[in-house]
Amino acid sequence: PRKIIIDTDPGQDDAVAILLALASPEELDVLGVTAVAGNVPLPLTQKNARIVCELAGRPDVKVFAGCDAPLSRNLVTAEHVHGKTGLDGPVMPDPSMPLQDQHAVDFIIETLRAQPAGTVTLCPLGPLTNIASAFERAPDIVERVQEIVLMGGAYFQVGNITPAAEFNIYVDPEAAKIVFGSGVPIVVMPLDVTHKALTNRARVEAFRSLGNEAGRMVAEWTDFFERFDKEKYGSEGAPLHDPCVIAYLLRPELFKGRHVNVEIETSSDLTLGMTVADWWGVTDRAPNALFMGDLDANGFFTLLNERIARL
Ligand code: BDR
Ligand code: CA
Repeated sequence: PRKIIIDTDPGQDDAVAILLALASPEELDVLGVTAVAGNVPLPLTQKNARIVCELAGRPDVKVFAGCDAPLSRNLVTAEHVHGKTGLDGPVMPDPSMPLQDQHAVDFIIETLRAQPAGTVTLCPLGPLTNIASAFERAPDIVERVQEIVLMGGAYFQVGNITPAAEFNIYVDPEAAKIVFGSGVPIVVMPLDVTHKALTNRARVEAFRSLGNEAGRMVAEWTDFFERFDKEKYGSEGAPLHDPCVIAYLLRPELFKGRHVNVEIETSSDLTLGMTVADWWGVTDRAPNALFMGDLDANGFFTLLNERIARL
């Protein structure tokens, strides 16, 4: 199986992504889950990550707490989307599995040094603070990363936290700039793709009728998430942003995109955190990312159902 580190700020959609990964042990070996501040503050994201691992029946997964604030800005959170706990919806018991003592950034550095070069994939599902901190502190690990597959940014869909920016990139644009400038092969799941991974009544009921606890939780999380999106975007369902990252590792053929240059805006107040993707190739800047633009949504939900059913 492919070795991955999931870097995350759960978040209902992060939670579904973690479940999808843990339900796929033949393809994916989750070396660790590293929490970062994002949707909610770090004490909640690290706790939520453990709740989700336990729900997957995997209290053995190593969960680490990382950075509690962006590299050089104040934290912006998204309780308006995810609720006060970050995982609002169903009532969940507190986790009993431990949080690892090691800092997430140290774990990322140590793991990339210990594993053979080119064998570990990073899967960031939140602001890029932990990943950028690791790259800054230990530049030797950068070339050892196999690939980064991340959720963040937008092109045609532009922004969800400001008119110009997607949340994960907006929260820590300096970190995003470091990651996109690192030279590591990057696959990006922007809003252009994740707004196609939309739940609807039938899709939510399909999760609920899987008959297991994980299916019921996914249904309740997406129900909660959906209420926000309906008001806001008038769309029928909720976008399952972060599971797109894991789905790509399992079934890359579900996605279509282009190798383009992506730069991150870090100075303009108006467009801070914008992912400036050269979709039409109008500059001579070298491509640094595979920027996805399309998704086979039915294939995506079939995969999710099949895997969540296994938990
Ligand atoms: C991203 O922001 C968070 O609210 C979600 O978990 C996702 O990672 C979408 O913009
Ligand atoms: Ca997230």
